Amino acid sequence: MIYAKNLSISYDKKNVVSNFTMNINEGEIVSIIGPNGSGKSTVLKVISRLMKSSNGAAFLDGSDVHSLPTKEVAKKLAILCQHNHSPSDCTVRDLISYGRVPHKQWYEFNNYDDNSIVDWAIEVTGLNEFEHRYVTTLSGGERQRAWVAMALAQKTKVLILDEPTTYLDVSHQLEVMELLKKINEEYKITIIMVLHDLNQASKYSDRMYVINKGKLVMEGRPSEVITKKMLRDVYKIDAHISVEQVSGKPLFYPLGLIKNNDRIEKSNKIVKIREAQ
Ligand SMILES: Nc1ncnc2c1ncn2[C@@H]1O[C@H](COP(=O)(O)OP(=O)(O)O)[C@@H](O)[C@H]1O
Ligand SMILES: [Mg+2]
Repeated sequence: MIYAKNLSISYDKKNVVSNFTMNINEGEIVSIIGPNGSGKSTVLKVISRLMKSSNGAAFLDGSDVHSLPTKEVAKKLAILCQHNHSPSDCTVRDLISYGRVPHKQWYEFNNYDDNSIVDWAIEVTGLNEFEHRYVTTLSGGERQRAWVAMALAQKTKVLILDEPTTYLDVSHQLEVMELLKKINEEYKITIIMVLHDLNQASKYSDRMYVINKGKLVMEGRPSEVITKKMLRDVYKIDAHISVEQVSGKPLFYPLGLIKNNDRIEKSNKIVKIREAQ
């Protein structure tokens, strides 16, 4: 359904992603994880046609996304970026209604069906009491739900989300993740997301891709990916890994930064020199 083939991506000729390949099947929940600045958002931008790669290509249902008109891509794929801004005079309902734009001609207003879809998106994201509020007056968590609702109203087969839970408290994080799981199960929407919380990624993903310094490090089921070795190599931490009993998925608990961290090594050397004196 989505195939990113040998992507190399640059900003102003500076290469930030090299030879990245990813293949997503219909109906999967896949997360991309990796440290800050490793290229996760950049990959999402290319597969959703917001940016071109310098090498390789991204395919949506077999077609190169850059060969498709914007509107065609927007009918199949919705993306919720990391930093979203809405105009100050935009209500929650207005924002969610924008999700219907790819399905309309410029001269058409939302009809009964569009309004029903907007009502549905408001309902599933629990935004009923906020629908007439300006988006700019909402708290971070409420605002995030409004953006998720807009992506839902787009009614696409694929939903791409960049850190959808980052600004939310833990119960709202769960609410969003459960909502994504529900729409994946009930409407067979394929979900690709960047998540920072590795336990959340483990709990909700069928598969995970790990990217570090612009390169694909590994790919697999959570039990294959969430390993002590990966956490040491990619995140430079020692961790304890257990298995969550209900889901059988791995759970990690960070123990600390790994000992061969350069800074710690240097300070150990200084201590040894002092001891020797
Ligand atoms: N608009 C931009 N212009 C120049 N460099 C950028 C831009 N956006 C991101 N980068 C750089 O590209 C690299 C990958 O960034 P990004 O994809 O945002 O990482 P992640 O989402 O994994 O934190 C980083 O080094 C970042 O500084
Ligand atoms: Mg990012």
